Amino acid sequence: MPIQTLAPNVFEVGASHADRKMFDAFMPTPMGTTYNSYLVKGETATALIDPVDPEKLDVLLANLEAADCDKLDYIVCLHTEQDHAGTLPDLLKLWPDAVVIVNKKVQELLETHVHVPTSRTTVVNEGETLDLGGKTLEFKMIPFAHWPDNYMAYLREDRILFSSDLFGSHYASQEVFSTDSNDQRMAARQYYAEIMMPFRKQVEKHVAWTREKNPKHIAPSHGPVWYDTTKILKLYESWVSDEVKKKVVIGYVSMHGSVERMVEKYALRLAHHGISVVTRNIAAYEDSLTVEVGHLASDVVDAAAIVIAAPTVVVGPHPAALYLAAVVNLLKPKARFLQFLGSFGWASQAPQVIEGAIPNYKGIQLEPLNIKGLPNDEDIEKIQAAADEMARQLSEDELVK
Ligand code: FEO
Repeated sequence: MPIQTLAPNVFEVGASHADRKMFDAFMPTPMGTTYNSYLVKGETATALIDPVDPEKLDVLLANLEAADCDKLDYIVCLHTEQDHAGTLPDLLKLWPDAVVIVNKKVQELLETHVHVPTSRTTVVNEGETLDLGGKTLEFKMIPFAHWPDNYMAYLREDRILFSSDLFGSHYASQEVFSTDSNDQRMAARQYYAEIMMPFRKQVEKHVAWTREKNPKHIAPSHGPVWYDTTKILKLYESWVSDEVKKKVVIGYVSMHGSVERMVEKYALRLAHHGISVVTRNIAAYEDSLTVEVGHLASDVVDAAAIVIAAPTVVVGPHPAALYLAAVVNLLKPKARFLQFLGSFGWASQAPQVIEGAIPNYKGIQLEPLNIKGLPNDEDIEKIQAAADEMARQLSEDELVK
């Protein structure tokens, strides 16, 4: 990724990783990602805001050279995760006098995760500033946007908010500034699902602060810079709000067709009620589980309900459904309702096992429907009745819009 100019003496010098297909080994990144790194040259000092993933150190160093940067006074480390701070030890060897700006939590985690000694760091607190000479960075703590350590840096003179992981997207583009591309919105949504959704209520406060601050640009640590901040702020405000869309997301696995038939009848009935339905066969093909569940996580960001549908294996749920339940439990979507649909051969504890696998889910769990064998006419009536009940619940819930 070539260097790009955001404002006079403010450059993006990070790296693109267009062929990265997976993040954190469980979220698909079909559009790759970038590790953004920002260089701010003041009249008296130069600061680098967040380095890059270790795999892309060479790109960062080449870009710093291209930006005529032969000395770093400060490296502002907004977050410890290794896709940003993993190159810090190398940079500190190259610039032995550089001071690493951190908050207290980053300082602690840098020592344990990246082995950067505290002697190389200077701690900043909420609202404090770093004067680079005509360029002033003001710091804002944003705990749990993604880890407890994240904080942001606001460049006062140019009104650019360096937002760390917040407002990021796994989207490798040659354009440093955001476009109207639907792909980028989808990438931002998928990113939100994995990184921000588990901490929705904390993130809501950080979004409100950003709206109030009214930066000219938002420059996250992944994906293009949000040139028009209203786009990403509106998206985030909708995602973090308690409101959900009239949408049901069904993740299913089927071995001999019984569950698939149940899902088909259920989904068609919901559609008959005017409800949007997303179905994902999470075990449709070899190696599809992680990818499909990852995309499903994005589907449920604003969904009113989640349905997990699976056959019984031995007496428990198919393990693919357990993986889906584990991801739902981890990411804590705001869906108002959840239901289990299943089919079994001779005995089943699948509904109870799925319920026990999602203790973090705080919505309403509707009565599960677990039928024996291939659904017959009587079973299909029960499936349609279950869909009717789901539709009724959605229509009566004031947060379903
Ligand atoms: Fe991109 Fe939480 O690091």
